[in-house]
Formats: sequence, structure tokens, C-alpha cells
Amino acid sequence: MLNQQNPTQTQAWKKLEAHFEQARDIQMKQLFADDPDRFNRFSIQFEDILVDFSKNRITDETLQLLLQLAEECKLHDAIEQMFTGAPINETEDRSVLHIALRNRTNLPIMVDGKDVMPEVNKVLGRMETFANQMVNGERRGFTGKPLRTIVNIGIGGSDLGAVMVTEALKPYWKPGMQVHFVSNVDGTHMAETLKQCDPETTLFMIASKTFTTQETMTNARTARSWFLEAAGNEEEVAKHFVAISTNADGVTDFGIAPENMFGFWDWVGGRYSLTSAIGLPIACTIGFDHFRQLLEGFHAMDLHFREAELDKNLPVLLALIGIWYNNFFGAESEAILPYDQYLHRFPAYFQQGNMESNGKYVDRSGQPVNYQTGPIIWGEPGTNGQHAFYQLIHQGTKLIPCDFIAPAISHNPIGDHHAKLLSNFFAQTEALMMGKSEREVRAELEAEGKTASEIGQLLPFKVFEGNRPTNSILLKKLTPRSLGSLIALYEHKIFAQGIIWNIFSFDQWGVELGKQLAKKILPELDGAEDVSSHDASTNGLINAWKEMRE
Ligand code: F6P
Repeated sequence: MLNQQNPTQTQAWKKLEAHFEQARDIQMKQLFADDPDRFNRFSIQFEDILVDFSKNRITDETLQLLLQLAEECKLHDAIEQMFTGAPINETEDRSVLHIALRNRTNLPIMVDGKDVMPEVNKVLGRMETFANQMVNGERRGFTGKPLRTIVNIGIGGSDLGAVMVTEALKPYWKPGMQVHFVSNVDGTHMAETLKQCDPETTLFMIASKTFTTQETMTNARTARSWFLEAAGNEEEVAKHFVAISTNADGVTDFGIAPENMFGFWDWVGGRYSLTSAIGLPIACTIGFDHFRQLLEGFHAMDLHFREAELDKNLPVLLALIGIWYNNFFGAESEAILPYDQYLHRFPAYFQQGNMESNGKYVDRSGQPVNYQTGPIIWGEPGTNGQHAFYQLIHQGTKLIPCDFIAPAISHNPIGDHHAKLLSNFFAQTEALMMGKSEREVRAELEAEGKTASEIGQLLPFKVFEGNRPTNSILLKKLTPRSLGSLIALYEHKIFAQGIIWNIFSFDQWGVELGKQLAKKILPELDGAEDVSSHDASTNGLINAWKEMRE
């Protein structure tokens, strides 16, 4: 069982509150001026990944107190419980073992007295065979043509990770392979995807942990009908449909044979499942060798998280810094800003990762919390974000801690694009920290020849207060291995924060109510008669819709 400790009742929290009173106005540029070694002391190299957390409003004392908080909240013990298969997803009575999916050392991991590794390896072996057959053009459709287009049908954790990784690793795509992802129950998503597909060469992967999710099942049935219109024969479904699920009965009921099903287990949370069979579209697109390198990258970070001392432990440090802003400065959101077009879905992936995991107001003892839990996560790739929302990060009234992520080496070294991209990456974190003082603005305006009255008018608008915190993550290159480590870094950050906030990070009851109500409303949408079983607004909207659709 996980420890139940209200973090605000710890010694460390009280000390952090007192410390915050002096630390809130600390100027980062002063910290750098006082300590020429700050960059070295507040950055950590992990393999090919440099994480610089020096541009934060933290001192040695802040870190020491935050580390004490982690200790008092028994973080280390919780990490051990996760890695050894304890049922730490207590509200669903499950272990939390995504780390077993990429356990490349293969040491046994026991759940209910049984080592899960043989099963994990068996599924990986089947995935390897299947991915090789796909890549080599050996899997053929109903007319004998090789299957070259994959349509993954899934949503949330059965979609976002595979989308994010296939996009991130596009330079590794095997020649001739195409992959599409359909998630939204909006028929447009399916219709527009199918326009790009040929039924003779398309393989559908129906990815759903539960195999009951409305969106996925609806899309899967539509895909099946579309396919059957062309193939004309139910028996051909076997060649063109595979399932990825924990629900063997559901898969069979849908009409997919067990030999075309890739299983995983209830101890894999949906949003932590991309290294399970949910990663099959990834393996078939980039090839299994690259998929293996991805797993190795994950595993390297898993080991680091388990073994590194807390004060050298990257996920822990990033988690603690996040808590510092979230709980003491009152920051409500965090931005993830990848300076790499290939990572364009990375913020969306960790939006689910964070917000579904740590968006909880009830603590592990069932009581409402009296402190803030998970932040709002958002972001877009730089430099697009710069021309859209950075204004607010620089000069808005909200404190938004940002993670900047960039590769040192581009997969597309065209002219000076990459130098320009990275000059923006470096410039932004510098600008956010240094700001621009009144004195600097005045000097600039004088140099432009502005009059004293013009300067007086313009000055306040052109000042940047700065002191806005960032982490910078510089990868040598975006490879399957470095991407795996990067994803695991963020996964474990979420874990560490959930432990300290004393919440359960691996359930998601909050998504249920909307689903239940949608089920109730769906039959009410039939027919022309007015609906009166809801509140006045909902009734009004449904009835207005009924009129509009006429
Ligand atoms: O949105 C809720 C959720 O349960 C997610 O946690 C999950 O990733 C998604 O739905 C999809 O679920 P499934 O894989 O069972 O279709």
C-alpha cells in the first residue's frame, strides 16, 4: 500500500512555506551572477540528453527542502513498490507495471506470485514477427497485394502515444509504409482517412484496452463495413483486421480471431501503454529494430529513476520543481515546447499523461485535498508558439513554467534552418529569464531617436520583467532511444508528483460521468419529440438540435 501523507502536514512543507516568503522575489539573473558554476550545478547529463534546470527560481536550499518533502512523502518506497509489482493502483486493485514492458534486463517482475516477463516477451516476439512481415511485404490482403497502409483505430491512451511516436520517428519509417490514426467518433475523421486508403492494401488495428470504448467500437464497425463492401466476404476480415486489447472475449465477439489479437494486461494503464502491443503500429512503421531501441531508451530512464539518488534523479528533480511552482507560486499550468517539428504531438501526449493521471481532488485516504494537484499541460512546437501565445508567457499576468526541448542535430539539415530554430530556442529561455529592464528599454528608444514624451508613453509596454522559469532539454538527436528516455522521464515525473500530492495517478474515474450521460442521451436523440428529462439548458440544447436538423 502506498503511504498516505498529506504533503502540507510534513515538516518540509512548512519549511518550504517559510522559505517561499524569502524566495518568491529571488531574481534568477542574480543567482547566476552570484554563482558562476550554477549551470553546471543545476544541470544533469543523461546519456545523450542534457537537462538544464538552472533557469528556475530555486536555490540549494529550495532543492534541499523539496528533496526532504520527497523523503517525507516516502517517494523512494513508492518507486520500489511500483517496480516490484505492488498493487499501487489501489482504486482498481492493480499493479502499475509499464516498466515491465520495457524491462530489457528481463529480471523477473512478480504479480500475484507470477513472473510477468515470459508473457511480455511472448507478445513482443509476436509483435516482432508481425512487424517484420508487414515491413517485408509478406502480409497480404484479400487480392494478394501486400498490406502497406495501417489504420489504427483507438482513442486516448490507445491512440495518442502511437501517433506521437510514429510522428516523432518519421525519419525511421520503413519505405512504403503508411500509417493513419482514427480516434474521434466524429464520422469525418474516419471518412477523411478512408479516402486515403485502398481496401486491398489496408490493415486495420483496433486498439482498445477494454474493447468497449464507444468511439473505437463505432469506428471499428464502420471500417469493417467499408472493407466488406470491397471484399464482399466475411472470411477476408481476418487478413485485414487485428486487435490490440486486454479483452479477449470482446475481441472474439467483434469477429477477430484470437490469433489476430495482441494482448496486454490490466496492469498497463492506457496512457502508459505505448510500449505494450499498443505500440504495434509504431513497430510496423519504423521496424522492430527501432522499436527495440525505443524500449531500450525507456528502460535506461526507468533504471535511472529507480536507482539514482533523489538529488541526481531527473524525473524526481523535474517533479519537485513543478511542485514548487504549482503549490507555492500558484502556477496553474505548464507548457511543453518542443523545438522539433517531429515532436509536434508530444505536448498533446503528455496533456493526457499528466491531466488524466494527476487531475484529482481526492487524496489517497478519500478526503478532498487542501492544496493544488496536477497542472494544466499545454504546448505547441516552437517557433509556431512564439508567434501565437508566447506574448502571454513573456508579459502576461500568469506564471507559466516552460519546458523547452530541442535536438542538437536535425534529421533535415537544410541550409541554416536548424541554427535559426535553435537560436530561437536559446533566445527564448534567455529572454524569459533576463527580461528587459526600464533602463534598457529607455536606452533603446533613445538610440531610435524617440522624444522624451514618446519614450514616456511607450516605455511601460516594452519592459519585460523576466524571471520566468524554464527547463531546457537538449537531445543530441531525436532517435528511438533518446525518445524512449524522454518519454519515460515525463512519465516518471508524473508518478513522483502524484505520490507527493498523495493522490492515485493510475485511475481515471473522472472520465466516466460524461460517458454515462452520453449513453443515456443517445437514444433520446431519436425521434422528433421534445426531451424533458434533463436540466433546462440540456433539454433546451437537445430540443434546439432536433429542430435544426430537420
Ligand atoms: O478517456 C478514458 C480512457 O479510459 C483512457 O484512459 C484510455 O486511454 C481511453 O479511454 C481508451 O480506452 P480503451 O483503450 O479501453 O479503448
